[in-house]
Amino acid sequence: MKIYVPMDSAAKALGADEVADAIAAEARARGIEAWIIRNGTRGMIWLEPLVEIDQGQGRIGYGPVTPEDVPALLDGKLDSLGPVEEIPFFARQTRLTFARCGVIDPLDLDDYRAHGGLAGLRRAAAMPQPDIITEVTESGLRGRGGAGFPTGIKWKTVMEADAPQKYIVCNADEGDSGTFADRMIMEGDPFTLIEGMAIAGLGVGATKGYVYLRSEYPDAIRVMNEAVRIARQNGVLGLDVLGSGKAFDMEIRTGAGAYVCGEETSLLNSLEGKRGVVRAKPPLPALEGFLGRPTVVNNVISLATVPVIFEKGAQNYADLGIGRSRGTVTLQIAGNVRYGGLFETAFGVTLGEIVNEIGGGTASGRPVKAVQVGGPLGAYMPADKFDTPTGYEEFDQNGGLIGHAGLVVFDDSADMLRLARFAMEFCAVESCGKCTPCRIGAVRGVETLDRIAEGDMAATELLTDLCETMKDGSLCALGGFTPLPVMSALTHFPDDFACHKEAAE
Ligand code: NAI
Ligand code: SF4
Repeated sequence: MKIYVPMDSAAKALGADEVADAIAAEARARGIEAWIIRNGTRGMIWLEPLVEIDQGQGRIGYGPVTPEDVPALLDGKLDSLGPVEEIPFFARQTRLTFARCGVIDPLDLDDYRAHGGLAGLRRAAAMPQPDIITEVTESGLRGRGGAGFPTGIKWKTVMEADAPQKYIVCNADEGDSGTFADRMIMEGDPFTLIEGMAIAGLGVGATKGYVYLRSEYPDAIRVMNEAVRIARQNGVLGLDVLGSGKAFDMEIRTGAGAYVCGEETSLLNSLEGKRGVVRAKPPLPALEGFLGRPTVVNNVISLATVPVIFEKGAQNYADLGIGRSRGTVTLQIAGNVRYGGLFETAFGVTLGEIVNEIGGGTASGRPVKAVQVGGPLGAYMPADKFDTPTGYEEFDQNGGLIGHAGLVVFDDSADMLRLARFAMEFCAVESCGKCTPCRIGAVRGVETLDRIAEGDMAATELLTDLCETMKDGSLCALGGFTPLPVMSALTHFPDDFACHKEAAE
């Protein structure tokens, strides 16, 4: 009997380790031969710890399981969720990037191979560099970190740059509130990221890669380090990648906890051992990146999606999606929501479907007031924008930002003025200090919102002005996008700003 208990940190936070220990002890006491596999999470966080039992007829799910449930679980008396893959939240997904996450043992390379792993790298290793770039370009893959820049064009810039050394840098500094896709894949299917980075390396002619991983993710750091060691030992990384005669190796570097180090140039400074301050662009990292050399900087999900593109072909990926947003989007549904978790689906699903149908509405049972999409720099989308389809351009046209595809749901008890103040305060705290609109603007923004809270409605004009200045004058996305949550709160929920005036009167 195989028993799967996730080792993902969200599942661990909900008691997965204690459940795994209780299963091991109970099985020992009963003399049952149980093979406990610590898999990644399937992404249905409200069911964690989700235990799956495989007795040769498919995996049956149970959850959330407590240590006290374990005797009944092994007696076959605990209510089951049925076959895990038939749970509606899971069954309606199109899992490509996350196809193996929660399915395999994350550190078992044979299990990875048995589920299609390394097929993409093997194919890429036999291709000339320009063909690798063409494949990525034709898939339509765009940067999943937030900006949505075409990955193929970025890789082409690096491939064509003339330099003695090039690098692949994976941005795993997942700092957005409500996002966890990077962590989930690194903990649940680390070889996918390694394989994607190796394909990128072969494509652009880079022999060295780095994953810049935030210190707040100790489990991901441990799993990734171990996976790199195993990959090296098995010829996936090194001087002769899968016997191709081509070299690529990589290592994991840990960040020190600054949000702004998720900005690519700040990340590069930090990776070089310098203070994490934003660099002006140009020069683009694609031409002068890590140590001044041409560097691909891609987000975890962008790189982890590359293997399936090479395994199934660019067209297969490009067939999914809408408009210029091709393939799948890895939605992270969080906040005050009934069914929170990771949901991978083709671009095009509307915001309303995500929140009300997939997410099941609010956990509190109260009406949804707003959804912040795209992290702390994303807009608060009101219910009348719920017909917006997920697509980079489609969101942009509706005043939003998909960003890293994290959604945080709020019910009607949310105070939008306080949330707007939080956005400015967050910017003030996390600002790297290099440019004035952000460094000083964010502090003034907090003060101005406090004036509005005290009933000075005339200050809204000043706030609008300040937001314009920050948007147009900031050097990077932190200062440049902070006005988005602030102005969306003011525009869509003016009553929350006016009610403070009434209270003051
Ligand atoms: P950007 O639009 O300046 O650049 C996007 C990417 O394309 C960069 O890697 C840039 O170097 C590259 N690029 C642009 N032109 C190029 C060319 N001609 N050739 C090759 N490469 C080229 O956006 P930026 O500032 O890198 O990112 C902003 C986004 O980051 C925002 O949309 C925001 O949503 C997101 N973000 C994500 C966070 C997360 O935790 N994932 C945190 C904060 C912001
Ligand atoms: Fe630094 Fe803020 Fe300017 Fe970005 S916008 S460079 S974080 S001061």
